[in-house]
Parts: sequence; structure tokens; C-alpha cells
Amino acid sequence: MSEDVQGQATDEASESSGSSEATIAVHWREEGYIPPPPKFIGQANASDPAILDRFAEENFPECFREYADLLHWDEYWHTTLDTSDPPFWKWFAGGKLNASYNCVDRHLAGDRNKAALIWVPEPEDEADAVITYQELYRRVNEFAAVLQDLGVQAGDRVTLHMPMVPELPVTMLACARLGVVHSQVFAGFSGGACGGRIADSGSKILITMDGYYRSGDLLDHKVKADEAVEAARKEGQEVDKVLVWRRFPGQYSAKTPMVEGRDVFVDDLLADHRGAVVEPVSMPAEAPLFLMYTSGTTGRPKGCQHSTGGYLSYVAGTSKFYQDIHPDDTYWCMADIGWITGHSYIVYGPLALGTTTVLYEGTPNYPDAGRPWRVAERLGVNIFHTSPTAIRMLRKVGPDEPAKYDYHFKAMTTVGEPIEPEVYRWYFSTVGKGEAIITDTWWQTETGGFIGTGLPGLFPMKPGSCGPAALGIYLDILDENGDSIPKGSGKAGNIVSRAPWPGVFQTIWGQPERFVSTYFEKYNKDKDSTDWHDWPYFAGDGAVQSEDGYFRILGRVDDVINVAGHRLGTKELESSALSVEEVAEAAAVPVVDDVRGRVVEMYIALKPGNEASAEIEGKVKTAIETDIGKIARPKNIWIVPDMPKTRSGKIMRRVIASVSNFTDVGDITTLANPEVVDKIRDQVQSAKRAKGEEPRELSETEEHEIKTYGEQE
Ligand code: WTA
Repeated sequence: MSEDVQGQATDEASESSGSSEATIAVHWREEGYIPPPPKFIGQANASDPAILDRFAEENFPECFREYADLLHWDEYWHTTLDTSDPPFWKWFAGGKLNASYNCVDRHLAGDRNKAALIWVPEPEDEADAVITYQELYRRVNEFAAVLQDLGVQAGDRVTLHMPMVPELPVTMLACARLGVVHSQVFAGFSGGACGGRIADSGSKILITMDGYYRSGDLLDHKVKADEAVEAARKEGQEVDKVLVWRRFPGQYSAKTPMVEGRDVFVDDLLADHRGAVVEPVSMPAEAPLFLMYTSGTTGRPKGCQHSTGGYLSYVAGTSKFYQDIHPDDTYWCMADIGWITGHSYIVYGPLALGTTTVLYEGTPNYPDAGRPWRVAERLGVNIFHTSPTAIRMLRKVGPDEPAKYDYHFKAMTTVGEPIEPEVYRWYFSTVGKGEAIITDTWWQTETGGFIGTGLPGLFPMKPGSCGPAALGIYLDILDENGDSIPKGSGKAGNIVSRAPWPGVFQTIWGQPERFVSTYFEKYNKDKDSTDWHDWPYFAGDGAVQSEDGYFRILGRVDDVINVAGHRLGTKELESSALSVEEVAEAAAVPVVDDVRGRVVEMYIALKPGNEASAEIEGKVKTAIETDIGKIARPKNIWIVPDMPKTRSGKIMRRVIASVSNFTDVGDITTLANPEVVDKIRDQVQSAKRAKGEEPRELSETEEHEIKTYGEQE
């Protein structure tokens, strides 16, 4: 490990302000810089600082032409940014294009037989599937013909509930070819969660797969389709057709029966469309390309609507400059396409640039922690993209594995949660072998692409910081009054983007008022203004900016718990628990976890006449798994005699969060029932100790999060 990597700790701490909610003092341990390796700079897509001038604020919004010009347009746009109906921004207004054409057809001329996708199945003895651009073209067209045959048209929504198989990008691109809006739901989500999203989006077609491999098991995934259709029906949405791809075409891998008249095998339908060619539909730049659901503070999930022209331009540009994708790279993003990361940086960005993108079906440590490195060695992967959770886990179970394999990355990415400097350094030195740059990318489902991260050839890395704002993005940190917090002050606040950018989502599907109120109302200066300066985008994250302009993201300021990089809404978790008959009150709190970042613990109070029992605990667990999915399963469920509450009846989540994290509960004098705190503490902490869950020392930012948890409401 080089000197630089060690990081020199200087204590640039400021005193605690203890004032407004957003202005938290951060004891900022500055990490040392790591310069990008010269070999990287030499070949980087962005190595000339002139690019920073091109994207300087005085060139906004026209600077984003540079991104849009990476695409093929059927009609060029007349207005780069139309602000006439704020904050519903329209990028590249008047332009027309097709996303499928841009990701597939246009690469045929020069790269027909280059691999577009390389799919790595989870069973190690199953061969990879290498899908060339020609093959992708053929498959996308044939499946588009299937959809067309079913009468699906531009603007219709179709829900996908698919695992990590090549049929997923094929399905997405076939939808895009027709202008159909796809809404892919993460395969790990339950049928119930999928059904809620089907209903919200008004989809009449569900596209799924019979089964897929996960940690060595071939799961029956089709069963979730039946549950999804049922759940959608309860919300008034009928699903006419369920299209079932088969993991092994011609052979059914699920036990769940097909429903006559409703369920069809895709391979059967495709047989009638062999060699079909479907003209790509030329779509307006502002036509929606897809919906991606995410959690928010209320129970109803938010369908983030992304545009065709702005989104595709933004992911192409950021893939080029931040992932440093060249057409001859072999790029592997180990995320799931069920999340925004996979949409932007497995499918649309890399394919728009005509590179080779790798898809992996299974879990990173299956059958052992050497798996990712064997894949990288075998395929010659040179760009690698993953999450802090995966890095922590691989480091924990196989710290010496990377050294055993002969692969060489030039670039690596991290996304989804803050990464601890110590974990960062293992990523850099051991996974990257000290040869690869790391881009820590801060962004969200809503932002479409990276918005806080440094250009890897131009900015040195700093463990724990995502870096400065991305090109053409003007980030700021505001206090509760909307005043800017100066950089280097050591004070944290709410991170905002002062200006729009092409990748920003267009609205929340069916909830435009919620779009405005959640993201813009807080800092809007004048609701009638058509000047974008009056409409900063409120991201919902706390952050601090150091003197050098780098941002460090501290986490959510709303009721969202980030588990292994996945946003879970506490209200969703709680309303699921409340659906259990015996439950009177429920409160979900985050617990700091070494691998998953945060895990959820659920506190339950029962209706009178009920006794705590393992049975009720089991019911709560099942309710959450059914409504959301196993990913949301709480680590512990505590049935307590009463919840700590304020005199107005509000559950004090910070108190129970502190108990769960073995930290000081702080001031409880304002509680209506302070005596309950000792009881809960005894119960929970002794049960935890009995299970071997010992107290863990929290960092200052973690401690702050826990001690103020739920105080933002
Ligand atoms: C968090 C994932 C620190 C943040 C792309 C954000 C991060 C939420 C980072 C979005 C990062 C994402 N450092 N925190 N590099 N990237 N986050 O919508 O709290 O699943 O608001 O999008 O993850 O999660 P989402």
C-alpha cells in the first residue's frame, strides 16, 4: 500500500452547533488523496481540463449538447432546455430518437459481431451466453414483434419482473423500440410488491421468467406472477397476459401451473416471429422511456418517470466520462437491472456507447468469494462497478482472493451508500491492485445518472468522499432556511442541485403534486417562476463539503433506511407490520451493520388482550416478506410493552433506534412515558447479548444519524 493510500488523518473538526436539524456538525477526518495512475490518465476519455470549462455554469444548459451528440437523433432538437412549466423540465425539446436504435441498430455497421452482452449464469459449469450486436438486434426485433402482436403501443406501460438474464435487456430494448414504457421490478421483490407497481402504472401485461439461480438454488419465480396478478386485481388493475420467459427454453423450470388463456411461454410466441424486423418508433425526446419505483416517506411507492432523450444522453455521457467506457472495453457492473444502477450502467449507458457489458445472474460469493475475480480473469473485464455492501462482504469472506487471479482493472466504481475509507482502501489496493481508479458515484433513482463524482483522470480520489459535482451539475448544501453552507465549514446540511440536468426524472407517475412537494417545495423561491434558479432539487440526503469542494454524503434525512444500498421506506415496513391483526403500533429503525450498512429492526406494540409470542413475530415477518420481499426482512422484531412517545403521541424513533444500537438514548424528559425506556432497553439489549449481538462502536456520523433518527418529520 502506498503512502497516499494510507491517508493522513487530520482533525479538521468544528464544534457542535446543535442548532437546526440540517446543520449538524461533522467531525471530519480528512483522508489523503490518491492520484489517478498515469496509465489511466493517458487513455482517459476526459483528461483535458478544458472539459471543465465547457461545462462551466456560464455554458449551461447548452453544455449538455455534448452528451446528446453522442446519440443518433432522427430529428435534432430546437430547445436544449425548456423551462416553461417548472419543475417539469423538458430537455432537447423538439428532438426525436429511439433508444433501442441507439443501443443496438446503429452499432451494426461497424460492430455487428462484437459482443454486446456477455451473460454469466450462476452455475459455474453452465457456459456463458455471448450475445453479439447482431444477435441482440435479432432478439430485440423478434420480441418487439411479439409485443406488437399483442397490441401493445407507444405510451402503454408494461411491467417486468425479471431476474438477471439476457432476456431482461432484450425485453427492455424491445419495449423501447416500440415506445412502450417498461417498469422493471427487482426480481427479489415479492409478488405483492410487484402487483402494487403493476396497479400503480396501469400495466395490462406482466413479463416474467419461470425461474433463476440464486445462491445455488433454481428458484420458482413464476409463483410470484400469480401473486402479483392477484395483488394488482385487488387494486383494480386486471392483467390480461403474463408472458413467461423460460430459463431453459422448451423446458419449464417452475412448479406453479400456467394459467390457461392468461399465461404464455415467450419461446412459443417467438417461434412465430423468427426473423421479424420491427421499425423503431421515433419518439419525442421527452416521451417516457421507463418507470423505476423507489421508496419514499409514505407507503405508496414512487414510480420515477425517466425520459427518452434527456435520460439516454445523460447516461451515455456519464458512462463515457465517469465509467471511462471506450467501445473496446469489457465492462462489468455487478448490480441488478432491477435497480436504477442496472438500467443506467448495465443496459442503456454501455450499450449506447457500443461496448461489451457483462451480466451476472447470481450472488457475488457463489460458490465462493473468488467468483467475481474468476469472471474478471476469464472475460478480461477491465472496468468493474459494484456497491460498498458487496465490497465489504467480499472483503470479509475472501480478503486474499483477488490476488489469486490474473485480471487487471483500469477503472472501478462504487455506488449506493457511503463507503468507509478502510473498505475503500481494500477496494483500491487489493481488488484494483493499485492500478485502477475508483469513482465513488453519488446519485439516486430520481437523478438517472451520477451527479456527485469526480472525473477520474482529472481529480484525485479521496476515500469516503464522492468528489465534486459532476459535469454540468451545480451542487450546494443548504441549511433549513435555504442559506448556503460554505464549504470547509465542517457543517452539514441538505445537498441540493441548483440547476436541472438531462438525466433528472420527469415526474412521479400519476403523482405530479408529490413530485413537486417532495423534491422542490422545500427550497422553491417562487412557485410561479419559470427561471430554473428558483427551483433547487432537494435530494433528501445530508452532506458536508470540504474546503477542496469534495462532498461527503452522510445519508438520508427522510424516513428511508438504506439496507445494502437499497432504499426501504420505513412507512412501507410499518404499514406492512400493521396489517397483522394483533399489532397496534409498529416502528422501524436502522441498526448499523458491518456488511449491509444498515439493517432494519422492527418494534411492535400489541393490541390489548394479546400476549407477545413467536407466532406474532412470525406473522410480522411473513407480512413484510409478502408485501415487500425478503430483502426487507427485519433483523429483529421486538414486541415491547409500549412505545416511547411524546405527549402528543408521536413514537420517538430516535429513542428505540438508540436502544437497538446500544447508544445513549439522549434526552427523554419530553416523553409521556419515560419509564418504558428502561424496560425496553433491558428487554432488547439482553436479548441481543444472548444472541451474540454485542455493542459496536459507532462513528460520529453514524451516532448522529441514530440519535436524531425520525426527528425530521
Ligand atoms: C445513497 C442508487 C453515499 C443516498 C443509485 C441516495 C450514496 C440513495 C451514494 C439513492 C454514494 C447513493 N455515497 N451515499 N456514492 N450513492 N447513495 O435511489 O442516500 O437506490 O439518496 O439510487 O443512496 O438510492 P437509490
